[in-house]
Amino acid sequence: MELRDAHVLVTGASGGIGEALTAAFAARGARLTVTGRRPDALAGLAARFGAAVVAADLSEPDAPHRLLDAAGPVDVLVANAGLPASGLVAEYSIAEIDRALDVNLRAPIVLARLVADGMAERGRGHIVFMSSLSGKAASGRMALYNATKFGIRGFALGLREDLRPMGIGVSAVYPGPVRDGGMFAGAGVHVPRATTRTPGAVAAATVRAVERDRAEVTVAP
Ligand SMILES: NC(=O)c1ccc[n+]([C@@H]2O[C@H](COP(=O)([O-])OP(=O)(O)OC[C@H]3O[C@@H](n4cnc5c(N)ncnc54)[C@H](OP(=O)(O)O)[C@@H]3O)[C@@H](O)[C@H]2O)c1
Repeated sequence: MELRDAHVLVTGASGGIGEALTAAFAARGARLTVTGRRPDALAGLAARFGAAVVAADLSEPDAPHRLLDAAGPVDVLVANAGLPASGLVAEYSIAEIDRALDVNLRAPIVLARLVADGMAERGRGHIVFMSSLSGKAASGRMALYNATKFGIRGFALGLREDLRPMGIGVSAVYPGPVRDGGMFAGAGVHVPRATTRTPGAVAAATVRAVERDRAEVTVAP
């Protein structure tokens, strides 16, 4: 897909990977709408990249509708927003479980459902889901996060088959641990540098996935 002048909506743009995604799509000449909950962080992206800003809390049931009403027709959806959802499930309240599922799984699915109609009418579009290596391999104290990232991986791969006849591409991106920004770097866990990648590397791989219509892209050693 040609990105120049395409309208790209990036969720979770106020985070470490989202900021790099915004910069990478802007460098391709795309027109951007960025979203997250923190207006101050989004305002910085508006100033740097000329992006339109729509603040939204994607744990709210109507937020995907309201976000897309405000953003207008979207050519590329990058469903990147996510919560870490780490720790023992036993330590989560039911409301916290619902919140993780709503932000990491429900909101991307509903956003994709809503943007696909317009993309099909225009005969062009691409949807990216930010999964994780935790969507391919499970580990202790990550069960809830694993559930959302495995789930979005399955959704992406199935949806790709359904939308292919309409000229719409779908990609899933699987970063491993990311340094220098984002939720893993923020957690302060020490791992060997060689096992990590940068937000810029995730963003570059995501842009390539859209331009070349790649089903799955892993960004890890
Ligand atoms: N960092 C890593 O090592 C890594 C590895 C694999 C996959 N990932 C995935 O990459 C994506 C981006 O993560 P990141 O590392 O950039 O994390 P981050 O810095 O914590 O950013 C998370 C983003 O999601 C947004 N978000 C969180 N809750 C939200 C809500 N209720 N409504 C709307 N937006 C919400 C945040 O916006 P506000 O703060 O403004 O609300 C922020 O923009 C996530 O899906 C994550 O699972 C990250």
